[in-house]
This record gives sequence, C-alpha cells and structure tokens, in this order.
Amino acid sequence: MSKTSPARYTITAALPYTNGPIHIGHLAGVYVPADIYARYLRGTGQDVAFVCGSDEHGVAIPMKAKKEGVSPQELIDKYHHIIKKSFQEFGITFDNYSRTSAKIHHETASGFFKKLYEQGDFIEETTAQLFDAEANQFLADRFVVGTCPKCGYEEAYGDQCENCGSSLNATDLINPKSVLTGAVPSMKETKHWFLPLNRYEDFLRSWILEGHKKDWKPNVYGQCKSWIEDGLKPRAVTRDLDWGIPVPLKDAEGKVLYVWFDAPIGYISSTKEWAEREGLDWQSYWKSSDTKLVHFIGKDNIVFHCIIFPSMLKAHGDYILPDNVPANEFLNLEGQKLSTSKNWAVWLHEYLEEFPDMQDVLRYTLTANAPETKDNDFTWKDYQARNNNELVAIFGNFINRVVVLTHKYFEGRVPQYGSLNEHDLATLSEIKKYPDILADSLERYRFREASQELMNLARLGNKYLADEEPWKVIKEDPERVKSIIYVGLQVAVALSVLSEPFLPFTSEKLKDMLALKADDKLSWTTLNARKSLAKPGQQLNKATLLFRKIEDKEIQKQLDKLAATKKANELEKSDIMAQKETISFEDFTKMDMRVGTVLEASKMPKTKKLMVLKVDTGLDTRTIVSGIAEDFEADDIIGKKVTVLVNLAPRPLRGVESQGMILMTENAEGKLVFLNPDETNVTNGSVIS
Ligand code: MF3
Ligand code: ZN
Repeated sequence: MSKTSPARYTITAALPYTNGPIHIGHLAGVYVPADIYARYLRGTGQDVAFVCGSDEHGVAIPMKAKKEGVSPQELIDKYHHIIKKSFQEFGITFDNYSRTSAKIHHETASGFFKKLYEQGDFIEETTAQLFDAEANQFLADRFVVGTCPKCGYEEAYGDQCENCGSSLNATDLINPKSVLTGAVPSMKETKHWFLPLNRYEDFLRSWILEGHKKDWKPNVYGQCKSWIEDGLKPRAVTRDLDWGIPVPLKDAEGKVLYVWFDAPIGYISSTKEWAEREGLDWQSYWKSSDTKLVHFIGKDNIVFHCIIFPSMLKAHGDYILPDNVPANEFLNLEGQKLSTSKNWAVWLHEYLEEFPDMQDVLRYTLTANAPETKDNDFTWKDYQARNNNELVAIFGNFINRVVVLTHKYFEGRVPQYGSLNEHDLATLSEIKKYPDILADSLERYRFREASQELMNLARLGNKYLADEEPWKVIKEDPERVKSIIYVGLQVAVALSVLSEPFLPFTSEKLKDMLALKADDKLSWTTLNARKSLAKPGQQLNKATLLFRKIEDKEIQKQLDKLAATKKANELEKSDIMAQKETISFEDFTKMDMRVGTVLEASKMPKTKKLMVLKVDTGLDTRTIVSGIAEDFEADDIIGKKVTVLVNLAPRPLRGVESQGMILMTENAEGKLVFLNPDETNVTNGSVIS
C-alpha cells in the first residue's frame, strides 16, 4: 500500500474532554479501532507509540464545574481518573495517557505558540467581541448562544451550530445571549492572535485534495474538500478566559490559548512524556519522514485534525503530517443520539458492573457494528445476538469442542498425526491465509470487515469439526481422529494469536488453555513460518468457557434502565411552571366558570391559530375566539363539552369580539387539549367551583 514501509508509527486517539465519564460511543468511534490498530502493529513487530491523554481546557469544563459546585481542578481530577481507569479496564493499550494540565504540555504548547509568533505566522488583530458586563467576561464558543445565521436554529453556540453543523464565530450569531447571565452582550474591543488559514490553502489542496484522494475515507475527504472550497479564513487561536494555558507573550494578560490550539499539541507532549520515561528519543516519532502518523477521531473533530492542526504543523516546520485520519461517524443508542447531559448512554464503568469480565463482548459488538461509513445504532438486542450467535455459538463453541475432545481422547496432549488427507491439507492452507486477510483489512482501517474475517476463521474450525465428526469416527478409526484433532488445534492456535487485537482478554485465556504462554516466539508474523502451531505432544490446560450466553432478562434490564432515563428526561423537559402568587378565596370566586357546548366552529381567515366558536354556555350562545386552530379541525370540536370562563372582559381579536375563554392545557407532546368535564350528565351552565 504505502511506497516504503514505515520505520515506526505514531498513533493518536482524540484526547477526551474531562467533563464526564466515557461511554460506548467514544469506545466505538475512536478508542477500540485505535487500540486494534496499535495491537495489530505491535503484533507484527512494528515500533509503535500509541498516545492519548485528558483534554482539560475544554470550555465546557469551567461551566460544568460551576454547576456541580466544585472547582475546575476538582472536576478534571475526578474525571481524569475515571476515564483513565475505564481505558485500562477495557484493555486500551496506550503507551502513555497524559493530561493537558501537565507541566510538559504547558511548556510544549507555549513553545509551539511562541515559535509561530516569532516566525510571523499569526495575524494580530483588535476587534470588537461580545462582552457580558455583568459577568465581566468576553463571550465566545460555548459561553454564548443565539440564532444560527445559516439555518435559523435558535440555540446555536458561539463556535458551532449543532443543528446544521456550521462552524461559527460568536459575532455571527443573531440575537446573542450570554450563557452565564442571560444578558444581551455588549461589544468591547480586545486583541487576539489569528492563524490565517487562507495562507495554507495551496498546501492543503495539494496535500489533501490531490495527495489523499484515494487513501482517505470518503467522509473525511469530503468534509475537507468542502471546507477548502468554502474558503478558508483566519481563526483566532487565543481567548479571553481564565481557564487554559496563558498566552506566552508580554501584552497578553488574561488571555489563554484556544483549547483547540493546545489540545492536539497534547499528542506531542504525551509522546515526550512517554519517551522520557522509556529513555527514547521522542523526536523520531514526530519529525522523521519514515514515521507514519495516524489520528483516530470522531467525525466532529475532522476539521481540527485535517485542516487546522496540519496547518499549525506545517507553519512550525519541523513536524511530519498525518498519513491518515480514519474518522468514524457517530454511534447512536437504541435509535437516539448519545448524550452525556441527557444521560443517554451506556457508561463504561456501569457496563462492567452489569457484565463483569465481559469487556471483549463489548469490544467485539462495537467493532462488528462500528459506525465506519455511516452513523450506526447500538441496540441491546443486537449486542445479545452478536454474543450468543457469534462469540458463543461459533468462536466459543469451536474452542470448547476441540479442547474438550483433546482431553477426552488424548489426555490433553496435542496428538501426533499419522497422515493428512485432502480436507486436512486444504484446511491447513486456508488457516495460513488469515494473517494476510486480516492485515489487508486493518491496513485500510476496515475494522468491521476484519472482525468478520476473524469470525470466519472460527467458522472454518467449526465447520471442519462438524464435517469430520471425530466423535463418531473415534469408534472405528482412532488413528484418523489424531489427525482431525491436530488440524482443529492448529485453527485454535491461529485464533489465539489473530484474535488478540480484537479480543485481548479472550486471546489471553485461550493462549493459557493451549499452553502457549511460554511460547514467546509465536506471533502474528511467525504464524505462517511454523510447521505446527500446536506442537504434537504438548500438554494443554483444562478447557474453560471463553464466553457465556446472555439471557433475555439481562437485556430487558438494560432496556428498562433506558426507558427510565427517557421518562426522567421527559419529566424534566416538560419543565413544570412554578406556582403563581397566592390569591384569596374572594379572588377565586370572582371567576365565573361554566360548562358549555361548542355549537359551531370555523377557522378565522388569514390567521394560523385562531378559531371562531359559537358556544352554548347555558346562559346564552356566545362567540369566543380561541387560539386552537393549529391543533384542531373545526369539525372535530363541534359538539364538544368545554369549560368556559364566562365573565372575562370581552376583547376584540382581529375584529371579532371574544366573549369569554375556553380552558385548555398542553399534553406531553405539546398539543392543546380541552379541560372538558368527563361527565356527560352535566348540563350547560353548571357552575364550576
Ligand atoms: N476533546 C476533544 C473532543 O472530545 C478532542 C480533542 S482531540 C485533540 O471532541 F486533538 F485536540 F487532542
Ligand atoms: Zn445552523
């Protein structure tokens, strides 16, 4: 694929924000594929630096801290540890997991900024920015909401509209409002440093649009193309905030580096931290042209990793550029967007409480169903099916059969075979194809495909045993069974090696069962060079179950949990209005409410909402204008019993005098409903009290 094979690999995984724990979406989109790739490369003997760390300067962090009543430092410490632990528990093998509050990162990011500053790579500009006088703070990014100028969405943020995906400047918003105080911001002048992306257009065009047309994923390439073709503009790389890395210049009091300027530099800092600890030279991982740099990210990070960070690296001058950025799309959960704030997620730490020691099942289902080319849905039913029908019924079943039979017939020793027939030889040569089949998928970042090929290897073993039926043959031809079990065990050993990137915990157990632990020469690359994978005479360990069936009731429990979350969110959303001021009994008795019947109804012309009703109130028949035309058809309400406030002062609505008011409320879907007496036996004019 690549012209010459790289001398080493630098693999990065997006630094997670430390404002919450991580969930299956993070795992599926970024960390599992990155880990599979890193493990595969190590397995094939490559030199790998796999780095990550916590992104601690996100603009949502000080806000979330305020909400939880803790300091930003306390908040990031808490989540840094939770996140780091989740990664360890799920077998994500970072060589280093750092954090952007680390001293080495502050130094690296400041140094990077200074070099660009000294080289004249920034534009310095004083412009009027949104300012919240009450909070005494400039408003950018997540600190301000308003109407999106592109699509009209009213809750767009100062950096991005989540409705249409446009990237925005805070001053682009229509009717901006401070998130801190709700105030309408004023304008105030302030100085900032901008990276003029327009200067990098030629470079980006030739590097991405010409250079990576074939090897970058279409979703990634397409986003880059539209960014470049929309016209690149200078981007501010500093902010007026008290949370972040101080701008390392004399006249920059109260200013910090924009989080998206410092965070990707975190990959470099994390590599430095690791290399220092290991006694290695970090520079070769970032500055040698024979190093292959790969960024694993989710799709919302594409512009930062393909346009902005590469422009920074290019400006700096010493660094290599990413060879690929295999960004994934999003994973949904049971048909709904994953959301930290709505608690619509499967949190990793909670998953392990429900399914202890079943990390591989989640890794596998998330890989087999990864959102590689389009958004995808995680459902618990699908999770159960992948486990029961694939991991248990194919992989687990095959291993269990072959190991149990080895114990039963040969006291647990790999049999010395006599002769091998055509089926045996065909099966053995089929096994040999798998390292290349898997490598081919993995080198193209097709992790789903690779996971299915791995399962095909287990299918091969399963089918071989089913065809050969050693449990029948043993009666007439025990010699033949030696060959069958020998061949079956070769598949088992291949599985133990090739499953390692995908199912690391299972691979470990399997190697133990097959007594391969001491066999340190067995690896992905040596697999095909060996005559026997399972050596005749070798004593195996006891068969243990690799996977267990998941019952319907376990899945139901998870579905119930999500249903409860949905309910809680709906209650919260319905946002019950606070009680109004107390009134006296006399106040109440002033209202004259009666039961009435709608006699006629017609929509008021040229209005959207108004309906003109004739109502029999028992006292008289009167006209009432009501704002219900969006929720009801005239024909559906004629004859309906309603509650009417009859002594409300008459008022003209679009030239028609309305003589009262019909009492209504809104249901859970926001539709109007009548407060009608549920009793058919009440006559019009009955007093409500
Ligand atoms: N924290 C960001 C997010 O979760 C990702 C940062 S990636 C880095 O979306 F490159 F900036 F580190
Ligand atoms: Zn928009």
